[in-house]
Amino acid sequence: MGLFITFEGSEGCGKSTQARLLYEHTRTLGYNVIHVREPGGTPIGDQIRAIVLGMNNTEMDPIAESLLFSASRAQLVHQVIRPHLAANGIVICDRYADSTYAYQGYGLGRNLADLRTLTAIATDGLVPDVTMWLRIDPAIGLQRKLHPDAAQVEWNRLDAHELAFHQRVASGYAALAEAEPGRWVACDAHLSIEALAAHIRTNLTPYLQTGRVAISPVNERTTP
Ligand code: TYD
Repeated sequence: MGLFITFEGSEGCGKSTQARLLYEHTRTLGYNVIHVREPGGTPIGDQIRAIVLGMNNTEMDPIAESLLFSASRAQLVHQVIRPHLAANGIVICDRYADSTYAYQGYGLGRNLADLRTLTAIATDGLVPDVTMWLRIDPAIGLQRKLHPDAAQVEWNRLDAHELAFHQRVASGYAALAEAEPGRWVACDAHLSIEALAAHIRTNLTPYLQTGRVAISPVNERTTP
């Protein structure tokens, strides 16, 4: 059974920091947890990541882009995520299929029904149990990412889209969350790192208490 947690949000929302903090928290509690990111998370996925995010690939066709994100996802789901869930572990994934709906669907205008079909094929129907959605004003998020003090900034081809694109992505997330309120947990990404982490931990507690996952002595460290 296991527990599949994803983190979603616009650029500069602090998702990766929060995913890492939750990983450390659940690991400290004794859970068998792994932390992966998309695109990437496997040797093949990391090669796809270099292509799909590469700043030089400016001629990337939106359909090719959607297929590449999905190919990386298929590899990650089958090689890493499903086996870990089958072992009743926790998987924390930094971005997943909702990123495809938000960026390629709402952002680039690709047909959402097609993207859902593509995702169903790539993941064999695997949907997260809970999605932590870090909400931020896209203009503030992009400024955070551009700030000279920002840690390990990786400016990618998607970041380089105009502000209107990022606003469509943000509205897309809002529409996705509204359509599935049982799965999405809205988190205010303007909060301090610690306040945000506490909000996320509080919202995760009921999922840890459902008996989906057991405390395990085995902790294999996997970080993006
Ligand atoms: P990354 O460097 O991991 O940035 P972030 O910290 O914002 O997650 O870059 C991932 C980029 O890829 C990000 O701009 C969102 C985009 N993306 C998509 O457009 N579609 C997808 O399906 C996924 C997984 C990511």
